[in-house]
Parts: sequence; C-alpha cells; structure tokens
Amino acid sequence: AFPKRVKVVEVGPRDGLQNEKNIVPTPVKISLINMLSETGLQVIEATSFVSPKWVPQMADHTEVMQGINKLPGISYPVLTPNLKGFQAAVAAGAKEVSIFGAASELFTKKNINCSIEESLARFDEVMMAARAASIPVRGYVSCVLGCPYEGKISPAKVAEVSKKMYSMGCYEISLGDTIGIGTPGSMKEMLTAVMKEVPVGALAVHCHDTYGQALANILVALQMGVSVVDASVAGLGGCPYAQGASGNVATEDLVYMLNGLGIHTGVDLQKLVDTGTFICNALNRRTNSKVSQASCRL
Ligand code: HMG
Ligand code: MG
Repeated sequence: AFPKRVKVVEVGPRDGLQNEKNIVPTPVKISLINMLSETGLQVIEATSFVSPKWVPQMADHTEVMQGINKLPGISYPVLTPNLKGFQAAVAAGAKEVSIFGAASELFTKKNINCSIEESLARFDEVMMAARAASIPVRGYVSCVLGCPYEGKISPAKVAEVSKKMYSMGCYEISLGDTIGIGTPGSMKEMLTAVMKEVPVGALAVHCHDTYGQALANILVALQMGVSVVDASVAGLGGCPYAQGASGNVATEDLVYMLNGLGIHTGVDLQKLVDTGTFICNALNRRTNSKVSQASCRL
C-alpha cells in the first residue's frame, strides 16, 4: 500500500547547485529558493556550511540564509559536517541542520576527510550542540546502493550506519544513492535491512538518476512504506566527490508521478515547472526533468 501523503524534500539549492562549475550569483540562489517557497514545498535545503576550499559554490552560505524570505511552515535545513559548520549555520539563522555520513569508508574519506568512526564522533558533537539549541538534525547516509570508490556496499553496512545515526538522535535518515546505480531490486534489499534497525517512518530516500532508475527505485520505496522523498528541481545535482554522478530525480517528475498515484504532496506542479525554467535559464542549461521537456500537456 502506498502512503497517502509524501513529504518532498527539495534539495536543488544545495545538491543541485553544489556541483556547478561556475559560481552561481548569490541573488540567483536567493531567487531560486524564494520561488521554491511559493510552490507548496515544506522543506527546502538551502545551502551547506562546508569548507569553501572544498566546495567553493557554497561559500556564500551566510548571505543565502540571510537573503531568503523564510516563509512560516517551511523549513530551510542546511548541511553541517562538523561543529564549526553547525555554529556558523546557527549564527546565520539556520533552524534545522543535516549531518552527512556514508556507508563507505573510502567515500567518507574523499567527501569529509575522515573515517566513518571519526565522522560519527564529529556528528556526536553536532548532535549535542543541536540538542542544547533545540535544533532538529537530519542524517544522510551516502552510497547506500554503491560507492564510486568501493563498488558494492552491503545492506548490513547501510543498516549499521543508519542505526548509529538514528540512535544519535537524527529525526530522519535520508538514504542516498549517491551515484544513482541502484535498481528496484537492490533498493528493496537495502531497505529491508535498514527497516529492521530504523522505523520506516523515520526514513527518506535520496535518489540520483545517473542510470535512469530513480523513479523506479522511489516507487519501490513508497511501496515499502517510505513517505519522505528527496528531489531536485530540474533534476540538477551531483556530488563533487562522486565523479560522474548526475542529478537527483527531478522534483517535477516526482510530483507528476505522485499526482498520478493520487498521493498528496501539496506541491503545485506548474509553479515547480516555472521554477525549473528559471534556474535552467540562469544556468544556461537544459532541464533534466522529463515532465518539463514534455510538450503535450493534458
Ligand atoms: P578538513 O580539511 O579535513 O578540515 O575538511 P579541518 O578540520 O582539517 O580544517 C581545515 C580548514 O577548514 C580549517 O581552516 C578549518 O577552519 C576549515 P584553515 O585553518 O585552513 O583556514 N573548516 C571549515 N570551514 C568552513 N566550514 C566548515 C569547516 N570545517 C573546517 N564547516 C571538511 C573537513 C568536512 C570541512 C571538508 O571535507 C568539507 O567541507 N567537506 C564537504 C564536502 C561536501 O560538501 N560534499 C558534498 C555534500 S555531500 C553529498 O552531496 C551527498 C548527499 O547529497 C547525499 C547523497 O547523494 O548520497 C548529501
Ligand atoms: Mg545527493
């Protein structure tokens, strides 16, 4: 049985832009978030408080956080890899943060320059500070269906890291298919293992569409009871430390599918399409959303 409603977590301003080679002007990022805020989305991941040496595109995080219109009822989480990032995020006005780990030792090293164990110790520091400040924390686990450096990742490892981050106090665990390599088969196997350790109500899926499997993988997750799905407007995205990985599932395509299934999202598809057109024009690129490309509208 499918969930009656799905919470769509828009990651375009962060995941969608972090991999863009040319620095996107801060006012464009602010306009993008402000337009997304008018579409009915409840969660819009705004930026990352990571090192500007590692991800120059996110160096304007404070200006972005302070420049956007924060509408009531919408949350604007930001990525914080460590306590330094957390403190900068809170100083900039963040009311929710995300920590990001991985089920792969080598990806963790490439992405955040430490071992999985060290990453969990850093996250613990963030969790403690967040608890003291009453800030909810979301946890990402990357490479849940494969790693660009290690190849296959066992569902048991994903379940182990997910359980640790959930036990630490993350209210939600977003399972990232960072390189979009999974299929409905491997998604089902991985989720079966993770659901033994983390309640399904606390799980989200984050599917990149590199192999064209994202919507199929999401459909399987929905059938298994997952009701939170990450997506990126216009299908932008990728991780600078996962070469060759392409964008997330396009939010337009996800909402189109959910509408067709009669699953409520509260998101206005036309406004979303218009927002996708805006950001693609600003970036001078073609949308990755099939729905936006489609010319026959019914
Ligand atoms: P490091 O170099 O090991 O850090 O980087 P360090 O602690 O040794 O410090 C070195 C310098 O960085 C120092 O400055 C620190 O102050 C500074 P210096 O003394 O040289 O002037 N520093 C910071 N500056 C700003 N903000 C901070 C911060 N921390 C330290 N938070 C670090 C470690 C984690 C910082 C680095 O590796 C990093 O920023 N990594 C982020 C990589 C990233 O953003 N990846 C993309 C997001 S993850 C993703 O896309 C996957 C996801 O979408 C899910 C999926 O698809 O699977 C979420
Ligand atoms: Mg991602």
